[in-house]
Amino acid sequence: MLEIKYDEKQQLFMLSNGSISYILGIEKNRYLRHAYFGKYIKSYNGSNAPLFYDRGFCSNPIESDRTFSLDTLLAEYPDFNQGDFRNPAYIIQTKDGKRVSRFYYSGFSIIDGKEKLAGLPSVYTKNTDEAKTLRIVLKDTIMQASIYLYYTILAKYDVVCRHAEIVNQGEADIYIDRLMSFSLDFAGCDYDVMTLSGAHLNEKNINRRALCSDSIVMESIRGTSSPQATPFVALMEKDANEDRGNVWAANFIYSGDFQASVQVGQYKTTRMQIGMNSTTFGWHLSSGKKFVSPESVLVYSDKGLNGMSQIFHGLYRHQLCRGKYKEALRPVLLNSWEAYQFDVDEAKCLNLARQAKELGIELFVLDDGWFKNRCADTQGLGDWLEDREKFPHGLKSLAEKLNNEGIAFGIWFEPEMVSAGSELYRNHPDWIIRSQNYEPILSRYQCVLDLSNPQVCQYIIDRLSDILHSVNVSYVKWDMNRHLTDLGSAYLDDKQQKELSHRYVLGLYYIMETLTQNFPNVLFESCSSGGGRYDAGMLHYMPQTWASDNTDAVCRLKIQYGTSMLFPPITMGSHVSIVPNHQVGRITSLNMRFAVAMAGNLGYELDLNKLDEAEKAEIKRQISWYKNIREITQKGTFYRMESPFERNTVSWCFVSEDETKIVCCYYQILAEPIYTNPVLKLKGLKENALYRLNGQDKIFSGSELMYAGLTVPKIEGDFYSEIYILQRI
Ligand code: DGJ
Repeated sequence: MLEIKYDEKQQLFMLSNGSISYILGIEKNRYLRHAYFGKYIKSYNGSNAPLFYDRGFCSNPIESDRTFSLDTLLAEYPDFNQGDFRNPAYIIQTKDGKRVSRFYYSGFSIIDGKEKLAGLPSVYTKNTDEAKTLRIVLKDTIMQASIYLYYTILAKYDVVCRHAEIVNQGEADIYIDRLMSFSLDFAGCDYDVMTLSGAHLNEKNINRRALCSDSIVMESIRGTSSPQATPFVALMEKDANEDRGNVWAANFIYSGDFQASVQVGQYKTTRMQIGMNSTTFGWHLSSGKKFVSPESVLVYSDKGLNGMSQIFHGLYRHQLCRGKYKEALRPVLLNSWEAYQFDVDEAKCLNLARQAKELGIELFVLDDGWFKNRCADTQGLGDWLEDREKFPHGLKSLAEKLNNEGIAFGIWFEPEMVSAGSELYRNHPDWIIRSQNYEPILSRYQCVLDLSNPQVCQYIIDRLSDILHSVNVSYVKWDMNRHLTDLGSAYLDDKQQKELSHRYVLGLYYIMETLTQNFPNVLFESCSSGGGRYDAGMLHYMPQTWASDNTDAVCRLKIQYGTSMLFPPITMGSHVSIVPNHQVGRITSLNMRFAVAMAGNLGYELDLNKLDEAEKAEIKRQISWYKNIREITQKGTFYRMESPFERNTVSWCFVSEDETKIVCCYYQILAEPIYTNPVLKLKGLKENALYRLNGQDKIFSGSELMYAGLTVPKIEGDFYSEIYILQRI
C-alpha cells in the first residue's frame, strides 16, 4: 500500500501507506501548496481546495491575479521576502548582503526506500520496500541555487520524515541564515499545542495550552537540545486526549540548538516548523557546495497521545536506534555516583560490585572520579589517565576481577570537556570554544572542547579507544555537564564562526559514530546531567539515556511520564537510590522506588553498605522478579493511563510484544483521607480474551478490565505502589 503518486492534471503529489496520506500540490506552476496530512484518503479531488480572493495587505506575486497571495497560501516550504509574512522556512543571503530570493518549483523524482543523511542521525530502512521518498526541486535561476525537499513515507509507521538540502550552483558564495527541516501549514487555528520543557532535575514537563492569535516557540541556544527545551511540538484537536482524537506531532532528530514553533497567521492558519536555531546558526555555502539540514519526524495519530507515542516508540526502537542493544535485553546495573561521588577507589568498587553481584546485579558502573586529578569537579577532565593511587592495579585488573566474579564493568566519561589544569588544556589552549577577545566563561569549572576541529575529535576518539581497547568495558556512560558559551573557534575562519554550534554537533556525531561502530559490544548510555540531551539524535548512537539526575520516585513519575511522550521506556535509565533522596530529601518506600525505576531500565545507585539485611533481601527479590518481566517492560507496548501532572494516582502499563502478558503499574503519591472505590481501567488488552491476574485463580475478560476496571486497594500511608501482572489464557 506504500505509494507516492503524481497526479499531473491536478498537479498533486500524494504520499500514502494505507493508514495515512500526505498531499501537496503545485500552485501557479511555481509554488508548493500543502493540501492534506492525516488519515488515509483513497483518492483526492481537491475537495478542500483553498478559496482565493482579493484581501487587504496581501501582496500579489502574479501581477494579473489580485486574488492570489502567498500570505494566505497553505505553504509547504514558505519563502522570505515574497509576501508571506508568516515564519519563512529559509532565508538565504547573497554576496551583496541581500536576502531576497525566488525559489520556484522545478521538478521532482520518486526514490524507492530512504537515503541516509551523511554525517547526521536519521531514521533508516533496511530494504527499499520499507519506504518511498519524494524529492522536490525548487530553483532560483538568478541566485543559481536549488533547494531539495525530501519527504519519506514509511510502510510500517504513520510517519513522514522530512529534511531540506540546498546546493549552490552559482559562482558566488551564498549564506544560509535559516533552513528549517520542515514547515507545515494547517487551515484554522482551533488547536491545542503540547510541548515538553524543564530544567536540570526537572526534565520533560508536559505543557498543553490553547493556541490563540499568537506564536508558541520552544527553542534552545545552549548548544544542546537541553533540559529546558525538547525539540518537539504537537498540535492537538481540542477533544484529543491520551486515547482519542487527532494529533500531529513533530520531533527533530538533532542534539544541538533548535527552534520549534507554532504560529497563527492573520487569516487563522497555523504554521508548524522545526529546524536549527537561526540565533546561533548560519552557514557559508561556497560555489558547488551542498548543505543538508537535520531530519524531522512528523507523526499523525488519530488515537490521541498514546497513539502518537506508540508510533514514536516503535519507529525509534526499530528504525532509529542501532547496534546490539537495539534488541538485547538491558542489564541491571549498579552505579557508584550517589554512593561515593568522586571518592572512588579499587577497594570500594570491589566491595560494592561484589555485594551487587550477590543481589543479582549484572553490571557495575564506575562513575566520575576514576581518573587522575579528579577528586572534585574542579579539575581532571581531558587527559583520561587512570588514577593509580585510587586504582593501584589499574582498571584492566579491576574489570578482570569483576568479570571473573561474573559481573560486567562499565565506566563514565565526559569526553567533550576539559578542565583548565589538565595537560590537554596546557598543550592546546586553542582547542576550547572561546572568543579570543574575552576570558572564557567557566561552568562547573570546565571548558568545552571545539569539536568543529577534526584534530580535537581525533584526540577524543584516541583517548577513549585506548581505554576501551585495554580494559574490558561493557558499558559507557557519556556525560556532558555544561552548555556552550563564548561561541568562537580558533580553528574556523572568520566567515565560519556562525557555523560553530552546528559544526560542534557534527563533530560530536562523528566521534560517536566512530566509537560506537568500533566498539559494537559496548552499551552506550548518554547523559547530560541527567536528561539534558535526551533527544532522538543521541538515540541513533546511544540506545539509552540517563533520564534525570533526580532519582526521587515521586519526581521521577512526572519525568518518566513526560519522557514517554517521545521515547520508549527501554531508552530510559532509571535507578533506585537511597533515602532521604539526595535531590529533594523525600523519604519514599523501597517498594515505590523500585516500582518507578523498573518502568525504565532498572539500575541501583546507592551505597549497599548502608542497607540493612532486610533491605538487601528486598532488593534481591526485586531484581530476581524484574528479570522475569523485563522483556515486557523493555520491549512491550507502553500505555499511559493516569497522569502525575493531573492526579495523585498515576498508572501505566506495558503489553508484551506477543500481547499475552501485561505489567501494570499503579502509584498513589499521598495518602487520601477517604477511600472512593477507585478502579484502574487497563489499556491495550484484547476485549474478548481472558486474563489471569497475578497468577491467582480469578479470570477476567479484557473488556471487563478495560471498561469496568480493577478495584485498587484501600491504601494507608504515602508513596504506595502496586504492580499487577496479567497473563492471557
Ligand atoms: C552528572 C550525571 O548526571 C551524574 O549521574 C554523574 O555522572 C555526574 N555528572 C558525575 O560528575
